[in-house]
Amino acid sequence: MRYLIGIDVGTSGTKSILIDENGKLIASVTAEYPLYQPQNGWAEQNPEDWWQAAADTLRQITAKVPAEQIAGIGLSGQMHSLVMLDKDNKVVRPAILWCDQRTQAECEDVEAAVGHEKLISITANPALPGFTASKLMWVKKHEPENYAKCAHILLAKDYIRFRLTGEYATEVSDASGMQLLDVANRCWSEEVCNILGVDMAALPKVYESPEITGRVTAEASALTGVPQGVVVAGGGGDNASAAVGTGVCAAGKAFTSIGTSGVVFVPTDKTVIDPKGRIHTFCAAVPGTWHVMGVTQAAGLSLNWFRNNFAKDVSYPELDAACEKLPIGSEKLLYLPFLMGERTPILDSNARGVFFGLSAVHTRNHMCRSVIEGVSFSLYSCLEVLQELDIAVSDMVVCGGGSKSPFWQQLLCDLYGMPVKTVGGEGAALGAAILGGCAAGVYTSVADGCDKTVQARSSMNPDMGKHETYRTFYGLYCRLYPAMRESMRALAQM
Ligand code: XUL
Repeated sequence: MRYLIGIDVGTSGTKSILIDENGKLIASVTAEYPLYQPQNGWAEQNPEDWWQAAADTLRQITAKVPAEQIAGIGLSGQMHSLVMLDKDNKVVRPAILWCDQRTQAECEDVEAAVGHEKLISITANPALPGFTASKLMWVKKHEPENYAKCAHILLAKDYIRFRLTGEYATEVSDASGMQLLDVANRCWSEEVCNILGVDMAALPKVYESPEITGRVTAEASALTGVPQGVVVAGGGGDNASAAVGTGVCAAGKAFTSIGTSGVVFVPTDKTVIDPKGRIHTFCAAVPGTWHVMGVTQAAGLSLNWFRNNFAKDVSYPELDAACEKLPIGSEKLLYLPFLMGERTPILDSNARGVFFGLSAVHTRNHMCRSVIEGVSFSLYSCLEVLQELDIAVSDMVVCGGGSKSPFWQQLLCDLYGMPVKTVGGEGAALGAAILGGCAAGVYTSVADGCDKTVQARSSMNPDMGKHETYRTFYGLYCRLYPAMRESMRALAQM
């Protein structure tokens, strides 16, 4: 039997899984680490924490099987987060994360320097604070001494690759989110790099997701228990990897993931671009394909934030059970989930969270239900943008930590008004392991890997009566942000 490892470098923790070649889960271990918010709207992590978490979890999972039967590793991770290394491979400053909102001014600089039309025609997306290029420009402007030291630019999972293999490498799906890639041609854009003054020699080599990018070194082997020489595949950004791990690899299929962020994701066989820039267009992990996705910045993050601050002693299943007893609309309480600004559909780094309609009748449980409903409304607005662009969505899978709640699954299903499925497996980490299997020659293609490992688990149908009730509240939800946009901007400037 051959075994495969998938590593997902998430925002709340790093998960490493070990599967056999038939997709059976042998071990799954997660190690958590802090997220630092030095200012309102900023978000940073320490890349060394990611590595310690990866090494710890790898040591635990590799102990479960004979080491010589481990055939390959795949990497997945939070997208966009900027890691800078100096010439001696030391981390120059904490990583600036995907959900950090400090770079609105630099986005305007990027748009002005490259030109909006050209930026979209090459990178397939407008400049957004979430993406890596504006983070680089921020460091250049505000910390020139750090920018001058930077010899290598990496993303989160690619830093783990560097520690495992010594290679500076990435792959097309994650590289798409840096805003330096020619997304249609799947290579770095010399033109965009030149205009922005980014040294191409500092960029990692770009591979396709299933390709071999390096092999585990003797030093990394001693620290992780993975045998020296095991191949490490390109892997994918967490969303592209989750698509593989849920078998969402062909047009018409879709997933909604509820992780720290929330994503509605659809594969495409060509680059489809929203002229209003509300959804992202990136390369997918299947060579020769792309995907579009809408992003809710604070999905699981909203519920986590709520529980940590207001219900620390209550378990998630207990909260679910309490929320389930309350009516749709949380007795007239609405929540806007903009704790970290928002991307789809409003693209506003100044947006902030709101509870609307609070009354003395409301309890902690009403607030919790309205958080879950507000995040779901935001995901529904992502789906609506995709539908507005005539992107077919007929087969919806839900995945990510939040999707483990049957209450939240049914809520999404009713709100979407369409059948929703769950699949077995570990989402992005499984996708990474499948890509590791492709690199190791265990699978002949990504599709072959999905066929052998991803299993449908359950499916549910919507209650269309509830759908209509949700739509009434959704209509009001959609009116709140435009009414508050200017006040949110004023608050940001105070
Ligand atoms: C996608 C995005 C998030 C992160 C979360 O554009 O920023 O989904 O990948 O890990």
